[in-house]
Amino acid sequence: MEAKPEGNILQSWKFNPTTIENMTIPIEYLGRDDERIMKECEYMKRHCLSVPKNLGEKAVTASIKLEILDRDYQISRKKGEIFLPLFRKPTQEETRRLRSELTAFKLTEELFKREPKQKSTVRQILKEMVPPKLLEEIPKSMPTVGDIAIIEISNELSSYDKQIGKAILMANPSLKTVLKKAGSVHGTHRIRDFEIIAGESRTVTIHREYGCILNVDLSKVYFNPRLAYERNRVSRLVEKRETILDMFAGVGPFSIQIARRNETIKIFAVDINPVAIEYLNRNIEENRMKDRIVAIEGDVENIVQQRFEGKIDRVLMNLPGNSVRYIGTACKALKRRGGKIHYYQFAEGSDALEVAEQTFKRAVEKAGRKLEGITTIRRVTATAPREWQIGIDARVS
Ligand SMILES: C[S@@+](CC[C@H](N)C(=O)[O-])C[C@H]1O[C@@H](n2cnc3c(N)ncnc32)[C@H](O)[C@@H]1O
Repeated sequence: MEAKPEGNILQSWKFNPTTIENMTIPIEYLGRDDERIMKECEYMKRHCLSVPKNLGEKAVTASIKLEILDRDYQISRKKGEIFLPLFRKPTQEETRRLRSELTAFKLTEELFKREPKQKSTVRQILKEMVPPKLLEEIPKSMPTVGDIAIIEISNELSSYDKQIGKAILMANPSLKTVLKKAGSVHGTHRIRDFEIIAGESRTVTIHREYGCILNVDLSKVYFNPRLAYERNRVSRLVEKRETILDMFAGVGPFSIQIARRNETIKIFAVDINPVAIEYLNRNIEENRMKDRIVAIEGDVENIVQQRFEGKIDRVLMNLPGNSVRYIGTACKALKRRGGKIHYYQFAEGSDALEVAEQTFKRAVEKAGRKLEGITTIRRVTATAPREWQIGIDARVS
């Protein structure tokens, strides 16, 4: 038996984790206060299986087989001995089985250092439930809107969708709901169907981007969190006292980011979806933008004809599936001396940028305007393999 150290073991070791690392302290050396300090230092008394160093591997295997190895604590070594933390004291039967596998061992109680808490990934949580080949198909990342995660689940994986949803919530405690995509974005309002697979039964949330508050109901309005950077980029291009038309405003993410950065501008934000306009009005109010943004419900073609011909400095056209149809309307809205257009469209293949540029140029010319120049053209986001949402910033006179 080892000699008991003189005095208080804590005083002699001064509780320096670098000293204590890889050592175990017999529990009987500790007083109650010492134990409290030990806890705070992340050392805990656990049942222990100790073996000579050469039996270390065998002891780990045996304790895993018996399901008694406590992986929340670190295995330690001292003077040729290995110390394994255990969940509990082994039963008589378990002790008998240890004896049959290990020629020498001791069962004691020792102090062990906690394993640093590691964040589990969704795939790690599902490792035991989902076959390895299917596990690979679970997306490593997914968009989140406020406290809602949105996931696309393949047909092969669909029988595991509830477990996947739960695992997403476990791995991301700040999320409250998981929605599974149940179809593509469709219709004039550009809405997607979702199935709630885990968490609270709701599709309404509050999303925050670049300091803006955006109330959204994902089942009733379009919203894409992946465009946050694009919206911010555009907001930086706006100049003082501009009059802006957001032709397809949705709940207002472009308008609100622009208005937040530019106090002297006026934005007319149009959408044909009445629910989007409801949320847009709420977002205007909550972001205190009533003096800068006016929400207008209706078809932008009519709205421009009725109110905005020749009145606008800058037009936003985020309707990538169909905005080509409205280039003529955007041109009509621009002031006589011209202005800026931010145009978006889907395009695929290696010549996606050229296709978008030519499409835009032809439509501007058809509208009787001149394309002065394209200041930037880029792939804003991937929408499918080899397909992108292309963004064009253009000067039109
Ligand atoms: C792709 S979403 C973009 C929404 C928003 N700009 C954003 O980034 O989240 C297109 C929006 O255009 C609206 N929309 C479609 N056709 C329209 C039209 N003719 N006039 C006005 N809005 C329209 C839809 O209701 C939808 O909210």
